[in-house]
Amino acid sequence: MLLHIPGVLGGDDLAECRAALRDAAWTDGRGTAGFLSAPVKHNAQLHWQDPVAIRLGELVRARLEQSPLFLSAALPAAILPPLFNRYAGGDYYGPHIDGALRPIDGTNRRIRTDLSITVMLSDPAGYDGGELVIEDLLGGRTIKLPAGDAIVYPANTIHEVTPVTRGERLAAFTWIQSVVRDDADRQLLFEFDAALQKLPSGAEADGARLQLTNLYHRLLRRWAEL
Ligand code: NI
Repeated sequence: MLLHIPGVLGGDDLAECRAALRDAAWTDGRGTAGFLSAPVKHNAQLHWQDPVAIRLGELVRARLEQSPLFLSAALPAAILPPLFNRYAGGDYYGPHIDGALRPIDGTNRRIRTDLSITVMLSDPAGYDGGELVIEDLLGGRTIKLPAGDAIVYPANTIHEVTPVTRGERLAAFTWIQSVVRDDADRQLLFEFDAALQKLPSGAEADGARLQLTNLYHRLLRRWAEL
């Protein structure tokens, strides 16, 4: 499931992120790439131990955890601390995959990457290129979103970021292990929840709401892994 989540970050959040990232200690993005990805990765990232990355990462994670749409869609069991990247001057990240397992930096634990998420920090009018392209059976879905918006997509896809030929593209990104491992099962629950939210309020619908909520939780109980 590909899901666009508008307004994860507000105007003040974006201003804080951009100000802190302006003079941040950017490093070569290849530092975190696997052997297949490194040759096609040309961008800059903040190290996970960078105090700016830690502070802004906590902000982004808190905003995600406040988003009902994100929580309903991702059913997160674990969210890695978000990282930050910058594409400018022709930077790109060619077609690649995200590994199935990722370390929780600073620990000896790992998560299974069910979902990838990118939160846009730059106004799309401020740069050319820099589209996220996610391959599917139609060829590829091209995504360019307003600042503050997020895209959630299955981490098992081949995807790329096209060259940024003007301006600068800043983004936060991370991975999520979901309580529900299977993308189709998780999507069914998401659509079920969205339909539940559309039930009219009032006593007349309360019986149906209770029954349907029970069915939602019965499916979640069937599929959940903790
Ligand atoms: Ni990737």
